[in-house]
Amino acid sequence: MGLEIKDVATTPFTDQKPGTSGLRRSVKQFSQPGYLENFIQSIFNTLPMERRNMLVVGGDGRYFNRQAAATTIAMAVANGFSRIIVGCGALLSTPAVSSLIRSRRADGGIVLSASHNPGGINGDFGIKFNTANGGPAPDTVSEEIFRNSRQLTRYFIAPQVQVNINLPGEFSFADSVVEVVDPVADYRQTLEHVFDFDRLREGFAKGRLSVRFDAMHAITGPYARELLEDCLGACSGSVVNAEPREDFGGQHPDPNLGNAKTLVGFMAAKTAPLLGAASDGDGDRNLILGRQFFVTPSDSLAVIAEHANAIPQFRAGLAGVARSMPTSRAVDRVAAAKGIDCFETPTGWKFFSNLFDAGKISLCGEESFGTGGDHLREKDGLWTVLVWLSILAETGESVSALVQRLWHHHGRFVYSRHDFDHLDTDQAAAMMMYLSGFAANAKRTHIKDRQIVAADVFRYIDPVDHGESHNQGIRLFLDDDVRLVYRLSGTGTAGATLRIYIENYLRDNVNVDARQFNRGNGQLAADIARIEHFTGVCAPSLVT
Ligand code: G1P
Ligand code: ZN
Repeated sequence: MGLEIKDVATTPFTDQKPGTSGLRRSVKQFSQPGYLENFIQSIFNTLPMERRNMLVVGGDGRYFNRQAAATTIAMAVANGFSRIIVGCGALLSTPAVSSLIRSRRADGGIVLSASHNPGGINGDFGIKFNTANGGPAPDTVSEEIFRNSRQLTRYFIAPQVQVNINLPGEFSFADSVVEVVDPVADYRQTLEHVFDFDRLREGFAKGRLSVRFDAMHAITGPYARELLEDCLGACSGSVVNAEPREDFGGQHPDPNLGNAKTLVGFMAAKTAPLLGAASDGDGDRNLILGRQFFVTPSDSLAVIAEHANAIPQFRAGLAGVARSMPTSRAVDRVAAAKGIDCFETPTGWKFFSNLFDAGKISLCGEESFGTGGDHLREKDGLWTVLVWLSILAETGESVSALVQRLWHHHGRFVYSRHDFDHLDTDQAAAMMMYLSGFAANAKRTHIKDRQIVAADVFRYIDPVDHGESHNQGIRLFLDDDVRLVYRLSGTGTAGATLRIYIENYLRDNVNVDARQFNRGNGQLAADIARIEHFTGVCAPSLVT
């Protein structure tokens, strides 16, 4: 008897438009009959039969992950994929998916994750589709998926395809094989290629390196344990909260100063390890701390660029660097000093892929705690930790000394982000519309005692495929080296979130408290946008 393939009639959902990073919805929305199946089928429909050879599937372990993985596998078999690679326990970090796609030459991968959004039965779920280069689907592909989802009338599933994903192994179903793999092995190999593990091991063995890594009960626990403790010899207990949990232990796995309070407290001690770090739900973000010191992601990117020669992957020199537009311009200064290109892209990792593939950049990052290199096409949390460890091993300096030196050489971009959550969607849209109009006429306008010297709505023309992305955030440049950026988030699942990014350049006297220092400019930014008038909200819900 052949394998039963069910052709299931379905009704399209109208809201399956991927955002900054895949489709994110509440678990409740994803649990509606057909919601998950429709979206997975819409992804598969964008792949012609000749591109259905190999698919990677895995997720961050949050609630609904196992069930969604089982459905995805049964649908992949029904849709003619010949090999489906899945991580044991349906676990794979986002960088590990990118790594597997590349090393196994798969046609794509499905990441079951809502990244840094809260998990659990009352939390969020998400699906990201990565293409054959290992990177997030570009906008053109996402638009095609969305188009498909609005017209979908049937999906295909093979109900007999049920595999035990708890142990590595292979399972055959007609013309398809489901291969269950150790989630860490391939990723570990990728990192072994780009770092000098012996040197790092020596650093830990001689006591020159020490680390505290908080996996926040999300996906990076098993990865960090194996890499940092088992492989590099960081002392046992260096990795904490290492068991992935369906609700992330009730924590919010978004590694910032607010959510990683225990780690921040731990690193406040004079006897704390040299490096403190954390990652998010799916392992692509990173938080970097020194003893009593927080490194902003923008400064982290600049320090990495500055010390590229300490990292074996970059020893031949950086081809170029890139940052998302709202990320501070610290890395631009380093790039200029090194005489290399620095690209400014819209928010979202997908915009970096073309630059990597064309060999225009080797390193990039975002202010939202994301850094990555040309070894993958995703941002990579643990990679960033090994990058910092490599720099610490090579220079023998502390985290804070490295950042102070960056500021001393290039000046400091004092940086803050103010988030206004849970705004009414229409009111937030009206405010952005007002602000775009304001920006169009803002040049040489005086606001209180300040002058706006330039303003625009950011648009991007991809230097490789010349694709255009419009409406990517509003920028105001003031006469005193202050830049204000406004954009709406594309990852939330309820209402709208406005992000205001405040950057203030200081050449000297750089040791200020960023929060305090940017408070006045934050208020100015809110006044300019008339946030209270449009939304009734007068203060940000989160300042990072
Ligand atoms: C946020 C970040 C962005 C990042 C994305 C996925 O998107 O701002 O830099 O690429 O998460 O991690 P946003 O919610 O701002 O659209
Ligand atoms: Zn993430």
